[in-house]
Amino acid sequence: MGKGKRVGIVGAGNVGSTAAFILAMNGSCHEIILRDNKIDIAKGKALDMSQAAAAARSHTIVSVAEEPEQLKDCDVVVVTAGSPRLPGMSRDDLLLTNAKITREVVRDIKTYSPNAIIIMVSNPLDAMTYVALKESGFERNRVLGMAGILDSSRMAYFIQEKLGYGAGQIRASVIGGHGDDMVPLPRYSTVAGVPLNDLLTDEEIDEIVERTKHGGAEIVGYLKTGSAYYAPAKSTTIMVEAILKDTKQIYPCAVYLDGEYGYSGIVSGVPVSIGANGAEDIINVSLNACERKMFKKSVDSVRKLVETLEAHNFFDEENA
Ligand code: LAC
Repeated sequence: MGKGKRVGIVGAGNVGSTAAFILAMNGSCHEIILRDNKIDIAKGKALDMSQAAAAARSHTIVSVAEEPEQLKDCDVVVVTAGSPRLPGMSRDDLLLTNAKITREVVRDIKTYSPNAIIIMVSNPLDAMTYVALKESGFERNRVLGMAGILDSSRMAYFIQEKLGYGAGQIRASVIGGHGDDMVPLPRYSTVAGVPLNDLLTDEEIDEIVERTKHGGAEIVGYLKTGSAYYAPAKSTTIMVEAILKDTKQIYPCAVYLDGEYGYSGIVSGVPVSIGANGAEDIINVSLNACERKMFKKSVDSVRKLVETLEAHNFFDEENA
């Protein structure tokens, strides 16, 4: 029997398990392998999802990796493992805790699924993508972070809500890091091809931009004990499917910049063409002075996180 497509999902919490469920319902791959410290919870979810897949007449099966070596030969591994963001907690508070978790997880991926493409989802997203890249030693096209699709979807929803029409026809654009300094680009956002400026006032657009920046916190404020997961999970599966199907479609994703947008040695969200080789092309969108300034601020805040990790000797061999 030939090997079908295998997707590993590390962290079977709300985001990881919802992403697994979407992939199972879509029949996006042959097998989904969940890995979580809470093995019984993962087993229960895997059984439940496998049965849902049977109901849906989907060929996808969902299993659990009880040991790291069972997460072997994956084509894609999604990493959602980490401490979640709780009310009053910034994404940055999670930095060191989640960096250590990411390091452990990525070492296993490197050992058992050395050809996988890694999609990071854990927060703070851009810094965790940086950690995954450094720890894996993979080429940068094989380590992506999910955030831009989520932030753009939030912006698209807020545009629709403001307009009262256009659902499903909105293309919103958000680049930069997944933090308070993210860079929504109304100038590159359209409703059925109509520029946003022709539909909304500057003031209305500013409101949408602000709400987008705090879109995650708004949901944490309601859920209290956790953060968003439907939109994060759906956004993640869009990336997984683009890789598995080699669509080469363009999505905003966190990638390691090597001269693009004038930055090197740091991860930020920019539009990339995603295919079987991961981030196959990075698209340089022309930015005006104001957008460039915002992008710089966003890159700087991710750099600060990486510097914080460096100050804790996180990347030093003897500390690893
Ligand atoms: C969000 C948090 C979890 O954007 O980053 O929902």
